[in-house]
Amino acid sequence: MRKKIIAGNWKMNKTPAEAVQLAESLKGSVNSGKADVIFCVPAIDIIPVAKALEGTNIAVGGQNMYFEDSGAFTGEISAKMLLDAGAKYVIIGHSERRQFFAETDETVNKKVLKAIESGIIPIICVGESLTQREQGITVDLVRLQTKIALKDVSAADAANVVIAYEPIWAIGTGKTATSEQAQEVCKAIRDVVGEIYDKNVSEKIRVQYGGSVNAANAAELFAMPDIDGGLVGGASLKAEFEKIVNY
Ligand code: 13P
Repeated sequence: MRKKIIAGNWKMNKTPAEAVQLAESLKGSVNSGKADVIFCVPAIDIIPVAKALEGTNIAVGGQNMYFEDSGAFTGEISAKMLLDAGAKYVIIGHSERRQFFAETDETVNKKVLKAIESGIIPIICVGESLTQREQGITVDLVRLQTKIALKDVSAADAANVVIAYEPIWAIGTGKTATSEQAQEVCKAIRDVVGEIYDKNVSEKIRVQYGGSVNAANAAELFAMPDIDGGLVGGASLKAEFEKIVNY
């Protein structure tokens, strides 16, 4: 039985002081240990938030990293820096990074390999645009994104990564995928992982759904057989996150 994993993606919100405040206000109510809970915070907030969460089961994650170890890459942050700051997870290939910061399937793969090598668990984001859904290519696209992201990842490492299916049309729009739509694609992701590796890996890997997850729809989504939790944007910045975690 896979343990649910519910991550808040705070995106570009909260100064360090505000982040500590939010972490303090949420930590008591999302710490039951029944699901893995992660706060993916802006890089500058990782150190203070990790400190605020000491003694809880809640982990901290980054929202991006670069695939080189160090060097002349102004503005970038390495996997080692994230780890040393207290992050256990890192979101890689979020659609906002693909859309606004030129992230590609190839850079996603390089970052995934570096994160794993460095001991950070990647949360790999895949998902289609509305046009792609209307063209009927959602499953093909997501299979391809998953295959490229996991290129050269060993079976043992793949079993530990997290994949987040986030249809772009559902992000920040209030338009959630139905639980059937989300299940169909999350299952397709698990199936392709089974094709690349084997049944053992596909049964272990955790697949999240993300896109307008809220207190009202979390329970139905997370009850689907291939949905192992959620990657939550807007609702992770509010007390509502407690209801999602304790669905
Ligand atoms: P919303 O929950 O705000 O739709 O954002 C989803 C998301 O992008 C999480 O990574």
